[in-house]
Amino acid sequence: MLSKEHNEIFAKTDRGTPMGSLLRRYWQPVGLTEEIKSGDKPKQVRVMGEELVLFRDDAGRPALLGLHCSHRGTSLAYGRVEDGGIRCPFHGWLYDYRGRCLEQPPEPEESTYKDKIRHSAYTCQELGGLIFAYMGPTDRTPLLPRYEVLVRDDGSRKADSYQINSNYLQNVEGALDTAHFSYLHMDNWSKVKHRLAAMPKPEITFEETVYGIWQKSNLPDVTLGVLTLVYTYFFMPAGFLRVQESSRVGKGLVQKFQSWYVPIDDTSTMRFQAAFSPSWSDGTTFRWPESEAYAQPGPENEYFRNYEQVDTISGIPVNAPGTAIKGYLCQDNMVNETQGPIVDRQQEHLATIDRVLIAMRNIYSQALEDLQQGRDPKHTIRNPKENVVVYIRGTEELERV
Ligand code: FES
Ligand SMILES: [Fe+2]
Repeated sequence: MLSKEHNEIFAKTDRGTPMGSLLRRYWQPVGLTEEIKSGDKPKQVRVMGEELVLFRDDAGRPALLGLHCSHRGTSLAYGRVEDGGIRCPFHGWLYDYRGRCLEQPPEPEESTYKDKIRHSAYTCQELGGLIFAYMGPTDRTPLLPRYEVLVRDDGSRKADSYQINSNYLQNVEGALDTAHFSYLHMDNWSKVKHRLAAMPKPEITFEETVYGIWQKSNLPDVTLGVLTLVYTYFFMPAGFLRVQESSRVGKGLVQKFQSWYVPIDDTSTMRFQAAFSPSWSDGTTFRWPESEAYAQPGPENEYFRNYEQVDTISGIPVNAPGTAIKGYLCQDNMVNETQGPIVDRQQEHLATIDRVLIAMRNIYSQALEDLQQGRDPKHTIRNPKENVVVYIRGTEELERV
């Protein structure tokens, strides 16, 4: 349970809020490389409540600027990407990726007024199919962590994103809570629930690490009749990594799914995911399925619930068609969204399986205090030697893939 005040501190991320200041001290994904191409129209995005425009300039650089033109506020998302920047559709002012105003076509020839304009702009970097932006104080800019899923070249990679209509934090908590795997995501529920009830309870252990939390879950596997190990990780400020090992593909398949939950605003979230699969020892590589267009699961379509035919507790299928790497999408969205736009943590009754959530909230409290005291918050990387490849994992043999 959290007090109303504490809940708001953790959940609200507009500029100037405590959590908003904390999240702005890290690089945050704001777009996918494949959806922001040279020559494409600019894209309006909202990040932590800020209205922005994302585009790729004619030199190929990703750029993230304030949405509203510094002249008289027209949306630059209706502008044109050309001549080294983005041109406002109203009177043609031209801004580069640093927010400098390069041209003011209607102004007198001798005017230097454009040099006084500083349009808001955030630095971007691209890695592993994601475009990251840093929205914090420039003199505190950390290094962008070179996570293995973003930089390893001994396998195949896929980046993706989707919107969720609830606060970022309950989605991070939903990911970190592994016990739900055996319930929410359990297929053939009516046939296996008795077997599941007779099996040992989930065993969950975790430790705080330099990046966040390392978690080992021993979860009942009703198909095998034993507990199976799942390793999951919380990384600062609002990220999650899941490593999946499956024997279903003959040679064994390892897949790593790393997610960043980026607030769009206080009641909606963009989940960015980069997935990586190391090549097999025979040199062949897993092929990620192409993303297909699909309807957003939500209350209007009951998250694709088919109560009569699908044998999960909810009747929502494990994999909705066309969701590529977004397994569990409909089920996870349903449980996290139906908690409400911002879950009221005054009303919760945390149980044994939720100890990891308390550990995560304690990490946030410490990070907020560090920020207040002028210290770098957890998992701020400044030393390039520590940033060759950032592995997020524990120490056990199983994880060395
Ligand atoms: S409002 Fe953008 S140039 Fe005038
Ligand atoms: Fe889930």
